[in-house]
Amino acid sequence: MQFSTRSGNPVRARTHCLVLTVLGDYLGATAREVDKASKRALSRVLKRGDIEGKAGQTLILHDVPGVAAQRVMLLGLGDPKKLDAAKLGTALRALASALGRTRAKSALVCLDGVAPPGEDAEWSHTMLAEALESSTYRYDDMRGTPPANGPTLETVEVLAADRDAAQTASDALTAGSALAAGLNLAKDLGNTPANICTPTYLATAARDLARTYQRLKTTVVEEKEMRELGMGALLSVGAGSNEPSKLVVMEYKGGPKGDAPHAIVGKGITFDTGGISLKGPATMYEMIYDMCGAASVIGTMKTVAELELPINVLGVVASAENMPSASATRPGDVVKTMSGQTVEILNTDAEGRLVLCDALTYIAKYEPKTVVDIATLTGAIVTALGAHATGLFANDDGLADDLLDAGTRSLDRAWRLPIWEDYQSSLRSPSADMANVGGPGAGSITAACFLARFTKSYRWAHLDCAGTAYRSGTARASTGRPVPLLVQYLRDRAAESAEGQPRTRR
Ligand code: BES
Ligand code: MN
Ligand code: ZN
Repeated sequence: MQFSTRSGNPVRARTHCLVLTVLGDYLGATAREVDKASKRALSRVLKRGDIEGKAGQTLILHDVPGVAAQRVMLLGLGDPKKLDAAKLGTALRALASALGRTRAKSALVCLDGVAPPGEDAEWSHTMLAEALESSTYRYDDMRGTPPANGPTLETVEVLAADRDAAQTASDALTAGSALAAGLNLAKDLGNTPANICTPTYLATAARDLARTYQRLKTTVVEEKEMRELGMGALLSVGAGSNEPSKLVVMEYKGGPKGDAPHAIVGKGITFDTGGISLKGPATMYEMIYDMCGAASVIGTMKTVAELELPINVLGVVASAENMPSASATRPGDVVKTMSGQTVEILNTDAEGRLVLCDALTYIAKYEPKTVVDIATLTGAIVTALGAHATGLFANDDGLADDLLDAGTRSLDRAWRLPIWEDYQSSLRSPSADMANVGGPGAGSITAACFLARFTKSYRWAHLDCAGTAYRSGTARASTGRPVPLLVQYLRDRAAESAEGQPRTRR
């Protein structure tokens, strides 16, 4: 999709679809101009009541008199006094899907600088580009015959009042489509079944990215080196699989040389059978999505590289396949982690924390400014937060607040849970330094408490996206979450480093 800006009279624009806003009972500013030129055709439509102007309502009018555009789409934004980010996001997604149902190849969108409280038109145009690019996403790689009637929309223009507005809008559109590119990559990786998407496949995807972007370098730690490094926990997870485990390290250098990076670390279990502690068959197929944390890291690295953010970012993927076999790890086995701490593996299905703990120890040598790990770690987080919020845990309040803020602004929200010392005792083991599972309660918290034992030397947060990274059921699909949150977080850090001071939080 091509995005650009345009000024001048929208009435004369030869576009396939002119998009205008309706704020409750009122036409938006550009809509009023068009209304005049069309001898009040829009006012009459409004009066008939087919569109009430609620947020997310759309109505398409063809051949409006006095207007050069083939179609005029009215987009409801609701009462402007009640407009918030969620409502505007909903409206822009509705706009994208309504456009997708037409055969329009071009559109001119006139948002009249509308923005939710605390944001400006830049936010709205970023969200517009993200919504448009995301709405055309489909995963058809596994079909024998790809379905016909793909999306038709090719060029989208945005009306800008003056040169400054045009520049801001243009930057915002670039940011939104870069975000969508990362999101779509994360979705593709998540949706690819486990017979194709193996740890080796993820490593190849990361290497491919480094070929595209000059500032990105990918290296892969193979099992032999993991053994030399003492990564007994990571290695124990892939022990039953024929697929070699991989620790993928992506270094993005956009900031000053020697500047400490922000690290993101993803769980990349390409299939989680549970191992010898085998999962039930009912929804085991969903465990193709158990690498969505890793996918969000690779997708975020793509967006960061595309945007050429002026910071250093370290993207790490800890990848293995969790299978039962004669060589698999047994319940009761004790392994030694790279940190030197030992773990009694009571349940081989609690494998995410085992691959992550060694990856989190490994990255300490980069002396990262902050570390965020992303993992489909526990079923318990789905019970706690459902599909709406990602679980957030942190050993640093400032970092937690920055991530919550990034989630709110990007409409990809997280919610914080505690990792108090009180919970640590449930990980006690009679023989080893710790067990890999806690008691029956607070499964997401005890999982995070396990990780906390490996992240004491830096500012760290953990995102449990088991409920948000994919949708279940017949419409099951990877969502790409939390790529929007991570990209927002890193863009905020980039803005902060440009200003030389922390961004003030609202
Ligand atoms: N990958 C699962 C977590 C998961 C469950 C993700 C459901 C998405 C949907 C993880 O490896 C796992 O199996 N966790 C166990 C931990 C338990 C054995 C302590 C769980 O949540 O049941
Ligand atoms: Mn598991
Ligand atoms: Zn898992």
